[in-house]
Amino acid sequence: MVSSPTPLLEIRDLAVNFAVYGGELRVLDGVNFRMFAGERVGLVGETGCGKTTMMKAILRVLPTPPARIPRGEILFKGKDILKMKERELRSVRGTGISMIFQDPTAALNPVFTIGAQMHAVIQSQAQNNHRSIDRRKIWQLAVSALKDVALADPERLLKSYPIQLSGGMRQRVCIAMALSTNPEILIADEPGTSLDVTIQDQILRLLRDLVEKRNMSVILITHTLGVVRELTNRVYVMYAGSIVETAETTKIFSQPLHPYTRGLIATVPRLTGGGIASGIPGRIPDYRNPPIGCRFHPRCPHVMEICKQQKPPLIEVEPNHSVACFLYSPTPKVEL
Ligand SMILES: Nc1ncnc2c1ncn2[C@@H]1O[C@H](COP(=O)(O)OP(=O)(O)OP(=O)(O)O)[C@@H](O)[C@H]1O
Ligand code: SF4
Ligand SMILES: [Mg+2]
Repeated sequence: MVSSPTPLLEIRDLAVNFAVYGGELRVLDGVNFRMFAGERVGLVGETGCGKTTMMKAILRVLPTPPARIPRGEILFKGKDILKMKERELRSVRGTGISMIFQDPTAALNPVFTIGAQMHAVIQSQAQNNHRSIDRRKIWQLAVSALKDVALADPERLLKSYPIQLSGGMRQRVCIAMALSTNPEILIADEPGTSLDVTIQDQILRLLRDLVEKRNMSVILITHTLGVVRELTNRVYVMYAGSIVETAETTKIFSQPLHPYTRGLIATVPRLTGGGIASGIPGRIPDYRNPPIGCRFHPRCPHVMEICKQQKPPLIEVEPNHSVACFLYSPTPKVEL
C-alpha cells in the first residue's frame, strides 16, 4: 500500500471568536484546509470572510484577547502550532512560515532603519537554527535579499528609514524580509493592494518570479481572479468563516460547484468590497448572530430546508475537488 505524504500544513475544524462589547463575534467556523510541499494555493472570498484571521491564527499572531480559539488544530508538518512552546513557535515563524502583510507601512517600524530591521530578522533566524553569524555576513545577506527583489542601490537603502521609501519600495523590502529566512511556506496577504495598480502589478509579477525560481510553497490571498489563475495551482474558497470549496485552479474556473463560488466567478475581475453585488445579492452575515446551518443560506438561490438547520460538511465529490453544500451531499442527515 502506498502511504499518502503528510501535508506541509493542515488545518482541522479551526474556530476563532473575537470578544466585542456585549458579546462575541464567531468569525472562523470550523475551517478545514491542507497544502502539500510545492503547492501554490490561492485563498479567495469577499471582504470580511476571515482570510486574514485564518492566516494570523496560523502564525499565532492574533491578539488574545480579544481573539479566542475554542477548537481546532493547525498542523505544520504534523505538529500542532496551537500547542507549541514559544521556542518551537519562533522557529516556525523563522524558517517555517513567513507572511507578507497587505500594508507595508504597518509592517515596518518607522523608527529603525531598513538595515536594522533586516539585521534583526536575519540574526534571529540564525539564532533559531543555533548558528552564529557576524555583522558582515548579515549585511551581505541583507544586500543580496534586496537585490533579489530588484531594488537598486541596496547599500543606501539599508541605511534609510521606511519613510524615505515609496510604497512600492517598502512592499519590496517586506518581501525581501519575508524571504530572507528562506521559509517553507510564504503567506502573501493581498500584497500591494494598498498601492496603485501599476505598482501592484509589478509586485505580483516579482512575487511570481521569486516563487517559481525558489519552488516555494505559497498561500496567496487576493481579490483579483486573474492573479489566482496565473499564480496558483489550487484554490480555496472561503465564505463567512468556512472553506466552502476547493479544487485545482483550472477546475474552480471551469467547473465551480458551490453557489457562492459560481457567484464569485461571475464577478470578474474583482471580488472586493461590494463588487460581488452583481454576482450574488446580499452581504456577509453579522458574526454576532450568524445564520444557523449553512451560513450562505440567506443569499443562496438554491436554499433548501436542510440548509437552514445543518451546516454542510466539506465533502470530496470527485478526486481533489471538495465542496460544502447540500446540493452535492449524498445523504442529508436531517429529517425534513
Ligand atoms: N481584532 C479583532 N477584533 C474584533 N474583530 C475582528 C478582529 N480581527 C478581525 N475581526 C473581524 O473578523 C472578521 C474577518 O476579518 P478578516 O480581516 O479576517 O477578513 P478578510 O477576509 O481578511 O477581509 P479583507 O478581504 O477585507 O481583508 C471581520 O468581521 C472583522 O471585523
Ligand atoms: S448548502 Fe444550501 S444554502 Fe448552502 S450553498 Fe448549498 S444549497 Fe445553498
Ligand atoms: Mg484580509
